[in-house]
Amino acid sequence: MAATPIQLDEHGRLRHFLTIENLPRELLVEILDHAERFTVVGDRAVKKVPLLRGRTVVNLFFEPSTRTRTTFELAAKRLSADVMNLNIEASATRKGESLSDTLRTLEAMDTDMFVVRHQDSGAPEFIARQVAPGVSVINAGDGRHAHPTQAMLDVFTIRRHKPAFEDLRVAIVGDITHSRVARSEIHALKILGVPDIRVVGPKTLLPTAIESLGVGVFHDLDEGIAGVDVVIMLRLQQERMQSALLPSGHEYFHTYGLTPARLKRAARDAIVMHPGPINRGVEIDSAVADGHQSVILQQVTHGIAVRMAVMSMVLGSHAQAA
Ligand code: CP
Repeated sequence: MAATPIQLDEHGRLRHFLTIENLPRELLVEILDHAERFTVVGDRAVKKVPLLRGRTVVNLFFEPSTRTRTTFELAAKRLSADVMNLNIEASATRKGESLSDTLRTLEAMDTDMFVVRHQDSGAPEFIARQVAPGVSVINAGDGRHAHPTQAMLDVFTIRRHKPAFEDLRVAIVGDITHSRVARSEIHALKILGVPDIRVVGPKTLLPTAIESLGVGVFHDLDEGIAGVDVVIMLRLQQERMQSALLPSGHEYFHTYGLTPARLKRAARDAIVMHPGPINRGVEIDSAVADGHQSVILQQVTHGIAVRMAVMSMVLGSHAQAA
């Protein structure tokens, strides 16, 4: 499938950030390098840089979120933008206003950027195709399709611990079928040159033809994580399951839950990741989630710098074009 053509401008710069699929490797590395520079802002007494001063960012979250919404808000504030969080539950959406009309209304307030999370795959692209030329859209997670900034913060975290992507073995474990994070991570890892990417889970939670993405498929957790450098655990997305695809959370933990004993199958210095929210005792044991190999909270922290990088690059392309 071709990359979403509207997300790059005629000079190959980011205009929107909707998907990682088919983006050039150099662009992903540029995001990671920018993010690296932004991490120091969080260590300062005054956690601000003036890059987006005078710009207006609207967070449009049609689905619940803790990490993504707050780190986008913090990222925008650290870039000195004005940020507005539309409370969907208290908005005119609940009175039947269409997405297009909500957008036009917010655009009339001189919004420069929409950060969009939506339950429907493709909603951020739908919005990106409607906004005025100077307005950008960032996908903060759409349906099962993509969560590109999550994947970028994940590869940023991996690079901090394991800089040589070309030597890595990475296992993504759990509910791949319903996971937009897994899809975006697989694309990012592939583009960055990771040679051994594995998906691990029961048949009911692995999409058919997942092999076509160039990943190894495992149904046994011990086999799937043997020798890997990175273990990415995923949450069971019960809210997206149309029918019961699993016997029970307890049984799932017995077969696919990551425990300290199981983690010993991975490389001795393997890191454990999870995009969150985590379900302790379902996909991951607390001793692993809180253990010395876990980098789960580092992922959250890195989300701010990575989102600062993406936002400044996206709006920077307008500044350069102006
Ligand atoms: N990882 C992630 O998207 O978490 P939230 O749903 O809390 O934003």
